[in-house]
Amino acid sequence: MAGRARGAAAMLAARLTQNSRWDDANSLRSSKKLGNSLAPTILPSSGAGITSPSTISAAQRLRSRALGGTIMRLSICIAIAGAAAVTAAATLLPKARAETPVERGHYLVVVAGCNDCHTPGFFFGKPDPEKYLGGSDVGFEIPGLGVFNGRNITPDKETGIGAWTDEEIVAAITTGKRPDGRQLAPIMNYPAFFNLTKEDAVAIVAYLRSIPPVNNKAPGPYKPGEKVTIFTFSILPPGHEAAAAPK
Ligand code: HEC
Repeated sequence: MAGRARGAAAMLAARLTQNSRWDDANSLRSSKKLGNSLAPTILPSSGAGITSPSTISAAQRLRSRALGGTIMRLSICIAIAGAAAVTAAATLLPKARAETPVERGHYLVVVAGCNDCHTPGFFFGKPDPEKYLGGSDVGFEIPGLGVFNGRNITPDKETGIGAWTDEEIVAAITTGKRPDGRQLAPIMNYPAFFNLTKEDAVAIVAYLRSIPPVNNKAPGPYKPGEKVTIFTFSILPPGHEAAAAPK
């Protein structure tokens, strides 16, 4: 088992050095500023499967002993290989090697966290698999702009984006411009998604078209002064009391 994991780690290491994005990520991670803080986020993005807490703590122990970038990189590889070894059901996780645009889009949607803001229940710890990407039940308050929650981005023609063209979807994701001309609130990460390559943006569209349509009209958005009907992330001044968890 250990030998197999080490063999897999060597293979992964070879793959990592071929891939400049991984190299960029590794150099970021080993920079003083970010330290190891990004390291755990690399585990699910490998798509290797569900990572057990023991794998993470073993990786952290290894990392804390690491003296340089190389050792740290190796420890991450071992952690990924370990995660692969304990792989359970990986249905909701993308494949590490995304061969088709739909697979690539799936991978990007998972690592970009679209699910977090676009699936109801996510922020309460219970994302609803029946309404995957079907519109969030939690909004973000942007002072002066209103309250905005992730919309239904499934191919449902009536309540989702099924009637939008590919170009319209790409424009919304990368520039925040809706087909009706409204500019999306910047809590939707289009300033970051602006950096997607064209191929990646198109792959995301291909994946979004491949998922089941969910007929769900998400509430909102709400203008300033309008009564909000959903839970909301708010910006509060320092000194306020932290809210209790909703019942
Ligand atoms: C931090 C939360 C967040 C994340 C992450 C996020 N979104 Fe959004 N998204 C939003 C919110 C909020 C809106 C609605 C904003 C508004 O109404 O002004 C939105 C709107 C959209 C819209 C426009 C839908 C419509 O009907 O107006 C699309 C398309 C979209 N998001 C796709 C994506 C994709 C694809 C990803 C991942 C690559 C993603 N979003 C990640 C929060 C998010």
